[in-house]
Amino acid sequence: MPLSTPHGGTLINRVFEGKAREDALQKATGLKKIPLNSVNISDLELIATGVVSPLTGFMNSADYASVVEDMRLQNGLIWSIPITLPVSKAQANEIKVGQEIALTEPDGRVLAIMKVSETFAYDKTREAEHVYLTTDEAHPGVARVYRQGEMYLAGDIWMVNRPSNIEFPEFHFTPQQTRAAFKERGWNTVVGFQTRNPIHRAHEYIQKCALEIVDGLFVHPLVGQTKSDDIPADVRMRSYQVLLREYYPANRTFLGVFPAAMRYAGPREAIFHAICRKNYGCTHFIVGRDHAGVGNYYGTYDAQKIFLNFEPQELGITPLFFEHAFFCQKCGAVVTSKTCPHDKEYHVFLSGTQVRAMLSRGEVPPKEFSRPEVVQVLIEGYRSMQGGNGKTEVAEAEGATSA
Ligand code: ADX
Repeated sequence: MPLSTPHGGTLINRVFEGKAREDALQKATGLKKIPLNSVNISDLELIATGVVSPLTGFMNSADYASVVEDMRLQNGLIWSIPITLPVSKAQANEIKVGQEIALTEPDGRVLAIMKVSETFAYDKTREAEHVYLTTDEAHPGVARVYRQGEMYLAGDIWMVNRPSNIEFPEFHFTPQQTRAAFKERGWNTVVGFQTRNPIHRAHEYIQKCALEIVDGLFVHPLVGQTKSDDIPADVRMRSYQVLLREYYPANRTFLGVFPAAMRYAGPREAIFHAICRKNYGCTHFIVGRDHAGVGNYYGTYDAQKIFLNFEPQELGITPLFFEHAFFCQKCGAVVTSKTCPHDKEYHVFLSGTQVRAMLSRGEVPPKEFSRPEVVQVLIEGYRSMQGGNGKTEVAEAEGATSA
């Protein structure tokens, strides 16, 4: 059995190289420039490298409305999260349909050329209601939508420069590259694992349960923008490397970074995460408790239930659902309510939120929760952050909610 077919059938590649790139760069000097923020830049990169195949640009109003209302592109293909380019009314007024513009980093460095096919107003509350299932501005994803410009620019893009702040370049792979890497390892079935946290024992348990039934595990931490109280990606990356070196078989595990921004859209984002991993070549995708959730906006298993809306063949990647896992002192192992008969008094439940709180108080999370080698990396990371050297990821003021 081969790796998964890209969503919509073709892996998109909109990265200009060689002469085409030179020509486009030359042309860009005369184009109107629109500076992007870090979320737009990561979306641009996802489009250009095929992570969000079959998208070839930022969504138009027809696709946007269809995605918001029905979780499908206009052509019927499943799609759950709008990939859009917000701008101010003033910026939109200066751009004509059919015009080519240059999308740049904040300092003016050109990243891509976009042919604008439409500018359109949209209803922020409706987007919040449907995509995030709440209009509460304390929700970090909703807050971002409320903060952004009033208009969306639609149109195909061509990338001429990769973003300059590519982090962890040695782990930064395009879908084309991961597919080649999986093939090279002889893997036909690969399970993708999304995370925005250091890997704790419950994560390790569900990953290894999944690995028992497939050929390879793709550990794929998100390194795009997250909320300010999530653990910075550089600290997390060090913890993943230590954990994989000490506890995972190298010939069955592949570590790469997912350059997307977190939306915290729970169920809708779980579908999005699965489709992106399908494009990277994964045949399976792990969805555990409160996937991509934040605060108490979503039920523990809502991100699993949403998959029931779709036929397995049309999704094209198999979700693997896991119950809330925890450590049982009597079993001496990580378990779930499916596999452990003991009383709650033996159970150690810890969440990413609690671990972050413990670390910030200078406490050491127990070994039942995290491998000691990982704890060490996290403690050092917290120390350097408190010493002012740590790198937090969110510049803009995100909502205060934590998960
Ligand atoms: S997420 O926002 O990226 O989903 P996190 O990094 O905490 O957050 O979770 C990564 C994956 O592990 C998700 O699929 C999540 O549902 C799952 N998960 C996290 N903690 C547990 C747990 N204790 N038991 C089962 N699944 C879990």
